Amino acid sequence: MLETLTRVPPDPILGVSAAFQKDESPDKVDLGVGVYKDEAGKTPVPRAVKRAEQEMLAAQSSKTYLSPIGNPGFNAQVAALTLGSDLAGRKSDLALAQTPGGSGALRLGAALLVAAKPGAAIHVSDPTWANHIPLLGNAGLQIEKYPYYNASTNTLEFERMLSTLDALPAGSPVLLHACCHNPTGQDLDVGQWTAVAEVLARRRLLPFLDMAYQGLGEDLDRDAASIRIIARAVPELLVAVSCSKNFGIYRERTGLLAVLTAGSEPASIVSGQLGRLARTLWSMPPDHGAAVVDRLLSQPDLRQDWMTELQHMAHRINFLRTLLADRLSAASGRDFGWIKRQRGMFSRLPLAPEQVILARDAHHVYMAPDGRINIAGISPANVERVAAGLAEVMKQ
Ligand code: LMR
Repeated sequence: MLETLTRVPPDPILGVSAAFQKDESPDKVDLGVGVYKDEAGKTPVPRAVKRAEQEMLAAQSSKTYLSPIGNPGFNAQVAALTLGSDLAGRKSDLALAQTPGGSGALRLGAALLVAAKPGAAIHVSDPTWANHIPLLGNAGLQIEKYPYYNASTNTLEFERMLSTLDALPAGSPVLLHACCHNPTGQDLDVGQWTAVAEVLARRRLLPFLDMAYQGLGEDLDRDAASIRIIARAVPELLVAVSCSKNFGIYRERTGLLAVLTAGSEPASIVSGQLGRLARTLWSMPPDHGAAVVDRLLSQPDLRQDWMTELQHMAHRINFLRTLLADRLSAASGRDFGWIKRQRGMFSRLPLAPEQVILARDAHHVYMAPDGRINIAGISPANVERVAAGLAEVMKQ
């Protein structure tokens, strides 16, 4: 029966890492997958995570099952981190489930939407994370796109985005990147989020916020402004949270799905649904990363140390944005100042797919096929080489 299967093409993001590994050039630069890199080009485990991990392992006396919705301490801590310590004033309206990473949270949220309305369409930004469409589509959601980014001007298509949302049928789910938009790095400001929240509320749309990079744009609170503004405006909201990047625990698969409902009774129904759906998807989420994050966030000294290190990571990314924008503008004679205005790990260079291949083959600079680069892969040591290579490629 398996002979009916056909070969799949490489993953647009993970395929870049695989190609990079094979390149033997000492000059190769990986601007592919979205992982943070430090001054030494390494992806470190933050100090506080290491300490929390050691303490957690020393204190752990059993590895028996928790439940399909995971560790309640972790769920409450991460919900507060994202929604604000007052949980947007709606603690009893919340249903929470720990998930295998942010992807698991997206998958579980999609399953909930399909259970609520089979055949529903979710509206995603154009462009969006390369894995959003297959991930949500495989869960059974139809996919529609709303205008988001103008690749000619490197700016938000805000008016078109807003008017498209304003014309959607009531009840439509809308996927929004809470901060650090992937792949463009182009975020909404507070005024724009407020306008979006007003449309979502008036049109009775269902926002589904993907929060994968909290703390890596500006800081923990400013990056969560989108969620807090929308949570105060609408009755129902889903948030998929990833702890992969801000806690540096990528492979531990640690995430949360938070569902804000219209009251405590629907919250209890949704909570039961999340448990049942998780049971059929992965039965129980992996414990380790969530136990570490729970311990870290509940101890003030560890929490403070983590916040300091996270703030350093965000500052470093923003410093690298300036460095790259200036060097690229100088090398190409074109204006790349827009890279400085974007946030998070990504920006998308105006390159055709052939130019992306040329950057790789002629200059050993690796990026996603759509021209998305991981800013954290830039360093003072490689920026001149990267800028010169990209400027050369842009002439072709
Ligand atoms: C990315 O967009 O590079 C990250 O979210 C990692 C991934 O799984 O694609």
